[in-house]
Amino acid sequence: MERDIPHQIVEDLERSSSLTSPRLDPARADFAQAVLAGFARKPRSLPCRFFYDARGSALFEEITQLEEYYPTRVETALLEAYGAEIAERMGDASVLVEFGSGSSRKTSLLLSALGRVTLYVPIDVAGESLAEAAEWLSERHTGLAIRPLIADFTKTRTLPVAARRPRKLGFFSGSTIGNLTQADARAFLANAARLLGRHAAFLVGVDLKKDPAILIPAYNDRRGVTAAFNLNLLERINRELDGDIDVAGFAHDAIYDEAQGRIEMHLVSLARQTVRVMGREFRFAKGERIHTENSHKYAIEEFQTLARSAGWTPVHAWTDPHRLFSLHLLGLA
Ligand code: AVJ
Repeated sequence: MERDIPHQIVEDLERSSSLTSPRLDPARADFAQAVLAGFARKPRSLPCRFFYDARGSALFEEITQLEEYYPTRVETALLEAYGAEIAERMGDASVLVEFGSGSSRKTSLLLSALGRVTLYVPIDVAGESLAEAAEWLSERHTGLAIRPLIADFTKTRTLPVAARRPRKLGFFSGSTIGNLTQADARAFLANAARLLGRHAAFLVGVDLKKDPAILIPAYNDRRGVTAAFNLNLLERINRELDGDIDVAGFAHDAIYDEAQGRIEMHLVSLARQTVRVMGREFRFAKGERIHTENSHKYAIEEFQTLARSAGWTPVHAWTDPHRLFSLHLLGLA
């Protein structure tokens, strides 16, 4: 969040701040900057990290329970089935750092298998769910110290002082790495190597390439929970940035781009319309799209090649019988 906020936006925020907090809230300024820039761009886009306000985090939890959304269920089953083997291969360590921790449900399984961890550092942009997750975990793992970092894990350059000791384990679950482009994923993995340091081990959950007939419904479920999750981004703009967007004037869309190996989520304008955000006007043509998320899929060997290019050594990969999802263990010399 240590980024420059254009002056005009700061002034806009200060003018509209009487409605909300009396001071400039950096999280809100970050969101404002991203929305105004993303709506000014063609094609229009919004960064997916803004999905996770309290409502969005709750909707994501609902997604993880959907029949069509297999990643959470399969990854959890892999952790349950191979926890002991994973722990044995990861080796003893006292610090666990989790990137994009969310509700930390899967972390509990890993912590139980690992045994010796005394400090847990969850890093997530969703402050509310971080606090809840920390409470939930500390009830289950007595003696575990928790130092949450409310931050964008792609921009984390330092760990809390308490974590600056060997030996560290990293955990990056849910195929959240798929949200990053390959270049950004490589940069993230290289930064994680630097943060975790010598002799680190890193467990990364990665969704596998597969038949689009399985992939697409996972991002376009029958009950419309994923649609609500995507559209909540517009509701969040209305709530936090004084927007007047007619949310019913947009529709959820999920497509699989075979060439890029990724699911893309979009919001499609159903009519020609003008929306206002923080006093600015943006015109949308009928059918115009806002690109809201990428979710890249990797074959096992593809991900291992990517990890190697970021300085990690692939140690082992676990997958389920249907080859839906993979857990990669990476190591550093
Ligand atoms: C949490 C980023 C892994 O890409 O599958 C779920 C988010 N988006 N349904 C994913 C998501 C739509 C999810 N990640």
